[in-house]
Amino acid sequence: MRTNFLAIASGKGGVGKTTVSINIANAMASYGRKTVVVDADLINPNVSLYLGSEKVNSTLHDVIKGKAKMLESIYTHPSGVKVVPASISLSDLPYSDYSSLGRALSQLDGYADTVIVDSHPGINSDAQEIFKAADEILVVTVPELSAVTDAMKTIRIAESLGTSVIGIVLNRVEGKRYEMNTEEIGAFLEKPVIATIPEDKNIKKSAVENFPVYHLYPNSASSQAFRKLAATLAGADEEKEDGFFKDLLKIFGILR
Ligand SMILES: Nc1ncnc2c1ncn2[C@@H]1O[C@H](COP(=O)(O)OP(=O)(O)OP(=O)(O)O)[C@@H](O)[C@H]1O
Ligand SMILES: [Mg+2]
Repeated sequence: MRTNFLAIASGKGGVGKTTVSINIANAMASYGRKTVVVDADLINPNVSLYLGSEKVNSTLHDVIKGKAKMLESIYTHPSGVKVVPASISLSDLPYSDYSSLGRALSQLDGYADTVIVDSHPGINSDAQEIFKAADEILVVTVPELSAVTDAMKTIRIAESLGTSVIGIVLNRVEGKRYEMNTEEIGAFLEKPVIATIPEDKNIKKSAVENFPVYHLYPNSASSQAFRKLAATLAGADEEKEDGFFKDLLKIFGILR
């Protein structure tokens, strides 16, 4: 199995990376894609806070410290979402050695179709280790100039490190006149806006219940948008795999 490491990044914090990560994981799984979310926000990990901190054997912190293996640290949430959590313990807080992240993530190579890497915001050296470890990046922003400007920096830095930015997820859209619209954002960032997620109070309600909105309120407006985004991502993956197998067949002279 060819594993795609997809980092969910943003310039500005709090724009919805973790929400997008857990919901597209849930939605992609419903499209038959084996998907794992890795909470790579070692400083402020939120995945376990949104999904509930069930008893986990080990965390990404342990894997990075060499105390545990990645495959032993995968936890399956009752929604079906597979997660490698980060430690929420204060004693792990000062420990944020991102230099081993790439090596830790590579333990998932061949395990899943897609590894969704929930990132911490910004473009500092820690974030750059995430960009380097990823095959592709999806940048989340809200429709405000400050967030979009920060998204631009994320795109530039990721691309300067050789990782492609496949598109923008525009989150918390209310359709108000004062918001930047999809066309403006696409033109400004020179990237396709591949999903528009509406502002949806069900997202907060489901976080309180420790479930992805996609699982708890599958017909809500945001769930429908996550379903569409997952279909786009799953389809793109499949096309890539198709291309990969076609390339192989060509190498063996079976296809011209
Ligand atoms: N479409 C939405 N509608 C309503 N609330 C949302 C939406 N998306 C995210 N939120 C809320 O916004 C807050 C921030 O979301 P989230 O934690 O996913 O952002 P983040 O980018 O991961 O933040 P950080 O940079 O701190 O990691 C949360 O309270 C979440 O419930
Ligand atoms: Mg987050």
